[in-house]
Amino acid sequence: MKKIIITGGAGFIGSHVVRLFVNKYPDYTIINLDALTYAGNLENLKDIETSPNYCFEKINILDAEALKAVFVKHNVTDVIHLAAESHVDRSIIAPLDFVYTNVIGTVNLLNVAKEFWKKSLDQHLFYHVSTDEVYGALGADGLFTETTPYHPNSPYSASKASSDHFVRAYAETYHLQTVISNCSNNYGPFHFPEKLIPLFINNIINNKPLPVYGDGLYTRDWLFVKDHATAIDMVFHKGKINDTYNIGGFNEWKNIDLVKILCSQMDVKLGREKGTSKKLITYIKDRPGHDRRYAIDATKINAELGWKPSVTFEEGLQLTIDWFFDNTDWLNNVTSGNYQHYYDSMYSNK
Ligand code: NAD
Ligand code: TYD
Repeated sequence: MKKIIITGGAGFIGSHVVRLFVNKYPDYTIINLDALTYAGNLENLKDIETSPNYCFEKINILDAEALKAVFVKHNVTDVIHLAAESHVDRSIIAPLDFVYTNVIGTVNLLNVAKEFWKKSLDQHLFYHVSTDEVYGALGADGLFTETTPYHPNSPYSASKASSDHFVRAYAETYHLQTVISNCSNNYGPFHFPEKLIPLFINNIINNKPLPVYGDGLYTRDWLFVKDHATAIDMVFHKGKINDTYNIGGFNEWKNIDLVKILCSQMDVKLGREKGTSKKLITYIKDRPGHDRRYAIDATKINAELGWKPSVTFEEGLQLTIDWFFDNTDWLNNVTSGNYQHYYDSMYSNK
């Protein structure tokens, strides 16, 4: 039976993947390996933390010795790698943090996996979770396909592109079995409120300005996070070895249009007069190197694996808003920083 390390399992997307695998595959052992940076929050996994097929290892992927020990301890069969520094704005301020975790951390993990599995490479999979941002910016037309040349523009996307290249190189050079998926922007429950949608939900609740970068006409392709998790499940189990899959919902929105929809849904939710939240929109200085448009062609994953999103954008956004209203403790703990004490209170005796 599989014993899978999911790195970054305490983060936004990772927590959904961990939950899905723990609940759907009771015979697998799921090892959540996470350093618990500011983005890691074990409260995201409260509902499954006592499941018999789940365990948590607080490890930094930069620590090769700790990685080796955990492979031995659990006799790991597969890796699904999500741990990363993930916020573009932070990458502009501190690019080296992204090189360390996203590039060197990934290579560390590749080295340990290849060494540990060297006698049975064909029985193991290293699944690398990546982003559509590696392809760079699109003009008004066209979509990113799996063969679009890489053209990263931010330190974040450059570090993810580099990690993708290392994964491919390890498949070619060392015959490690790998698969890569490149997904568009996610949104949904447990989204850290530094990214557009959760930040704006929190600001609307608190009547704070909604900082729209530049002219607001930047376009992103949005996918509900649970649909990304089901895509990862399919790629992990049915994807072609050493192949790559784009994941997205054919769901492009200009930032300003998205923000306006969010404002109207929030007005209804908060019982505020129509148009109230829109007044909080404030155009601010643009992000340097801001990619104009991302859009994913998800034909391949649909045709080959039969995956498609389960919700429309309006449904996903409503589910997200409802979740944030039903989980105000989570939001308050994150915005106050209290979530960082959760590990100590939960795991101090273990
Ligand atoms: P996140 O920032 O919410 O979570 C990252 C997790 O990785 C956190 O739990 C953090 O503690 C952990 N981590 C960071 N550095 C670590 C290290 N050195 N060692 C061990 N753990 C470490 O990120 P996310 O939004 O959930 O993204 C997960 C993955 O999916 C990333 O690889 C990201 O590039 C990719 N991705 C994200 C999106 C998106 O819209 N958020 C879209 C496509 C792909
Ligand atoms: P973000 O959620 O940071 O994701 P990414 O940069 O990885 O696409 O941003 C989504 C879009 O929203 C992007 O075009 C930048 C823009 N944005 C704002 O206009 N204001 C904000 O405060 C944030 C965080 C993002």
